[in-house]
Amino acid sequence: MRVIIVIGARPNFVKVGPLVPALTAAGISADLVHTGQHYDAAMSDVFFEDLRLPEPRWYLGVGSGTHATQTAAAMVKLEELLSVERPDALVVVGDVNSTLAGALAAVKLHVPVVHVEAGLRSRDFSMPEEVNRLVTDQLSALLLTPVREADENLKGEGIDPARIRFVGNVMAESVLEHLPQARERRACERYGLARDGYVLATIHRPENTDHPERLAEIAAALRECPLPVLFPVHPRTRPRVAEHGLVPGMEDVILADPVGYLDMLSLQADAAAVVTDSGGVQEEACMLHTPCVTVRRSTERRITIEVGANRLVGAWRDKILAGLDEALASMRDWPVPELWDDQVSSRIAQALLDGVEPLPGV
Ligand code: UD1
Ligand code: UDP
Repeated sequence: MRVIIVIGARPNFVKVGPLVPALTAAGISADLVHTGQHYDAAMSDVFFEDLRLPEPRWYLGVGSGTHATQTAAAMVKLEELLSVERPDALVVVGDVNSTLAGALAAVKLHVPVVHVEAGLRSRDFSMPEEVNRLVTDQLSALLLTPVREADENLKGEGIDPARIRFVGNVMAESVLEHLPQARERRACERYGLARDGYVLATIHRPENTDHPERLAEIAAALRECPLPVLFPVHPRTRPRVAEHGLVPGMEDVILADPVGYLDMLSLQADAAAVVTDSGGVQEEACMLHTPCVTVRRSTERRITIEVGANRLVGAWRDKILAGLDEALASMRDWPVPELWDDQVSSRIAQALLDGVEPLPGV
């Protein structure tokens, strides 16, 4: 069996980390195609080093742009590639524009689409990722879910249950694999911070970065946080933070460049709490038993709230600070969700070997 795996943006690299070796071990040939959606060294190269990912066989150089520009550019190049290569399946992960582009390009060439992390729903269509998830799932021949709730979401949207397989969360598997190495880094010390003596923040969703009033509320909360804050700033957010009083050289809010995966795990594991609007960070904080405050109106990672690891507070100064107080006082002994373990990618390999049934009529 021969598959091609599409990657393009930071969370994709982390999700395929455990997958490539597991597929290879199962006798499945797996090549990576990198769309180039993320291209800075700190957003892409560092993940290949940290996760020991093989070089992508193809690099499409799509880059940044509006949603249509970026998705269409990736589709055109993926269509060319798939027409020549004709793999047995195209594996797509997560919910970024490269995921959607892969699914759309493959389905019309009758290449079966396999979606890893299928079925998550925020029910918030202002998020581009919600559109990407919904469309990708409708086009997929095999839907591999990280939580049982995702199976129910998919069935509710009319997906044939025979196509759905609950395999668990690859993001969690990656944490388990890399945590021992990450812990040795003690990354917080490089920023002059002590273990459990700081809050780690990441903010990059357009719903926050592109609304000055929301970003102002978030910035106010970070400035008033009871502990020092370390804030590795995503390139989308970087041009906007200074307008809200977050400037380099501040003592209590340390602005940093985006960090690599191992440093990020180390920083999350050692933080007293995490403030984020990232999907992946909500899951990682849950795995690492670090309490999380999610600065969004909705989350597709509801399981992290259900187990007691996370709270959804929106982008309001008072609510973020109240959420932080609660998080800092909380017990950290919540249970890890079902199948968030070290066998997720083996289950994915088995699901592929069990066969990918083409969509009706194909
Ligand atoms: C994308 C995903 C989002 C994911 C995030 C992970 C979509 C719709 N969004 O958002 O779901 O959470 O990646 O980080 O796919 N930029 C750089 N260097 C880079 C990459 C981006 O400077 O290497 C800047 C560019 O100005 C670009 C902006 O960041 O316009 C946004 O990049 P883009 O990939 O469009 O979306 P993200 O916000 O990164
Ligand atoms: N991440 C990282 N360095 C950073 C910020 C995030 O390594 O400076 C990692 C994070 O630990 C997780 C992944 O990037 O593994 C999540 O990506 P991101 O938050 O960009 O996207 P999302 O998960 O929200 O789609």
